[in-house]
Amino acid sequence: MEKLKMLTPNLVDKNAEQIGKIFPEVITEKKDDDGNLVKGIDFDLLKQKLSNVLVEDENERYRLDWPGKKASLLKANTPIAKTLRPVVEESVDFEKTENLYIEGDNFEVLKILQESYLGKFNMIYFDPPYNTGTAMIYRNDFEINETEYEELIGAVDEEGKRLFKENTKSNPRFHSDWLSLIYERIMVARDLLEDLGIIAIAIDHNEIHNLICICDEVFGEDNRIGVVTVVHKPEGRNQEKFFGTSNEFMLVYAKNKEEASFNDIVIDDNLAAKFESSDENGKYKLKNFIRLSDGKYSLRVNKPHFYYPIYVSEDYTKISLDKVDGYLELLPITEAGQERTWKTTPTTLVERFNNGDLVVIQNEDGHLELYEKLREKQVIKTHWVDKKYHGYHFGTKVIDSLLGDKTFDFPKSLYLMEDILKLMLKKDGLILDFFSGSATTAHAVIQLNAVEGGNRKYVMVQIQEQTDEKSEANKVGYKTISDIGKERIRRAGKKIKEEFLAQYNKELEDINKQLEQETLDGSEELKEKKAELEAKIEHINNLDIGFRVYRTDSSNMKDIFYHPTSLTQLQLSAFESNIKEDRTPEDLLTQVILDLGLELSLPIEKKEILGNNVFIVQENALVACFDDSIDFGIVDKIADLKPLKVVFKDASFKDDKDRVNVEERFKRLSPETIISVI
Ligand SMILES: C[S@@+](CC[C@H](N)C(=O)[O-])C[C@H]1O[C@@H](n2cnc3c(N)ncnc32)[C@H](O)[C@@H]1O
Repeated sequence: MEKLKMLTPNLVDKNAEQIGKIFPEVITEKKDDDGNLVKGIDFDLLKQKLSNVLVEDENERYRLDWPGKKASLLKANTPIAKTLRPVVEESVDFEKTENLYIEGDNFEVLKILQESYLGKFNMIYFDPPYNTGTAMIYRNDFEINETEYEELIGAVDEEGKRLFKENTKSNPRFHSDWLSLIYERIMVARDLLEDLGIIAIAIDHNEIHNLICICDEVFGEDNRIGVVTVVHKPEGRNQEKFFGTSNEFMLVYAKNKEEASFNDIVIDDNLAAKFESSDENGKYKLKNFIRLSDGKYSLRVNKPHFYYPIYVSEDYTKISLDKVDGYLELLPITEAGQERTWKTTPTTLVERFNNGDLVVIQNEDGHLELYEKLREKQVIKTHWVDKKYHGYHFGTKVIDSLLGDKTFDFPKSLYLMEDILKLMLKKDGLILDFFSGSATTAHAVIQLNAVEGGNRKYVMVQIQEQTDEKSEANKVGYKTISDIGKERIRRAGKKIKEEFLAQYNKELEDINKQLEQETLDGSEELKEKKAELEAKIEHINNLDIGFRVYRTDSSNMKDIFYHPTSLTQLQLSAFESNIKEDRTPEDLLTQVILDLGLELSLPIEKKEILGNNVFIVQENALVACFDDSIDFGIVDKIADLKPLKVVFKDASFKDDKDRVNVEERFKRLSPETIISVI
């Protein structure tokens, strides 16, 4: 019996719960006035989340701290003036594809995508450098002593900032740097994940303890779905003094555990092979509905009310508990003549039969049997040991055979990625992988779409890390890791498409030959098979094996666009246009799409109308024209398209009078259109 509280509700707790839903990272354990540990809000952290400057604090509480953590938080919340530029010549099917391959530092890319992809990814996966004391690329933004890091400096980015290529254990900030790098990225990535979404992160023993702390903070400990062990190298590393490491981990979090769910699938191939039949509700296997176990209730004598006759129509499509003329009687008696029991009561049995869960089948010796359809189901364990997850055989060798040379160290197994996607991404879902490496994730998306149907889409992000000059990859022309990733996707997509089409066309040819010889009876089944195959061929023909390539760069706009008040009269003539000279209309369109919060995968049509170049993005979502001078003829034509949004260049208009005129024309011809200029 519940005891009444006899108190008004504690609004502080309720409010804290609400805050925790928006910012799970600010929920902590701290001491109350009596010195007891209680759940509370980390107000300093909350203040930092809402502040543009660094907030100091010295209170003790339960959380993982390191030098630079606050700076990372600040960085995660500060806007950047960067954009993406399309690289059409390196893309495949630029106009039509919905997949993206973005080259650049993933922190910047995540920030650039913040508006357009807020809550849009159904799943996020990433496999960061594991802080093993070797390769890790990051930009150093900390104020540190020059000499401390001298030997670590690898390269310089386009803004002259140092890019660190290594993080050796002698670095006094060995853990802190890695933690900051991951923390600021996860903070931004969380916002890009939809509420039902799941994030999976690959990691090894070096930083797993810290990564769990960070993710518990960012996603909330309650949203931790699992810590999975993946045996990727069963023989173990042989140069180790003690254990030969044979496994790594995968941390899995939901954005909201209550809402999220795994797909109902079987990833164990041996188990899956047993579920060979399928109907509109998925795969199943048949199991006799007579209780055949050794338990005492499987016998009629011990459970007589579960021994009852059912009556089945001649075509086995109807059953009845009462005798019906022409219906056949069925009892739970084994072939050996033993009287046993059904698995349920009469009413449930009829209900399950009518739901399509039970079927009557005549077996080979003419006996009628009642079977239940056991649906494909597997308890997904936290220990993944199947040999298909081994990195060398199903990762390295897969790339080697595609690219012809040893090009990339330690890719994930293609089948590991496939299983992760099968489990966590819906069939038309969008996945983000922001440490893309050799693009195993993209490869797995295409393969799974081919094998299982569906239209999963991906966004890959990869920094333009140079390959080692002495490496095989570099010698055969892959100057950067992204060159490897892009070429892998190109080749994998082409190969998958060709192989599936060859197989299906061959099967179709065989069916057509059989159909020529078959009698009318058998041909119905063959015709069904033919229709299925034709649908599969159509699916493969429409398979999206393309991707749009984008690269990060500074904004298309000159600095003066962001700070107009700092413009002096003298400088004015130098800034006739606020757009950088080297930027193309396609560059401008990309930044506008991002600025308006539209997705980069939307179809873009470039049309020439009255001699002007006009971009039409997803029919009428956005129409843009960045030509230098625009007359009212083209304005009217664009207004006729009734776009939701329209964008011009500010400099395209002669004066304010022209601008007002354009607004007036739109008010008349397409009053709903929102007009902007850059
Ligand atoms: C461990 S690998 C990922 C391997 C990948 N899962 C596969 O199967 O090929 C990590 C990748 O992240 C890239 N990387 C490192 N720092 C990055 C950054 N700041 N932004 C984007 N990519 C980065 C590295 O170049 C490397 O290719």
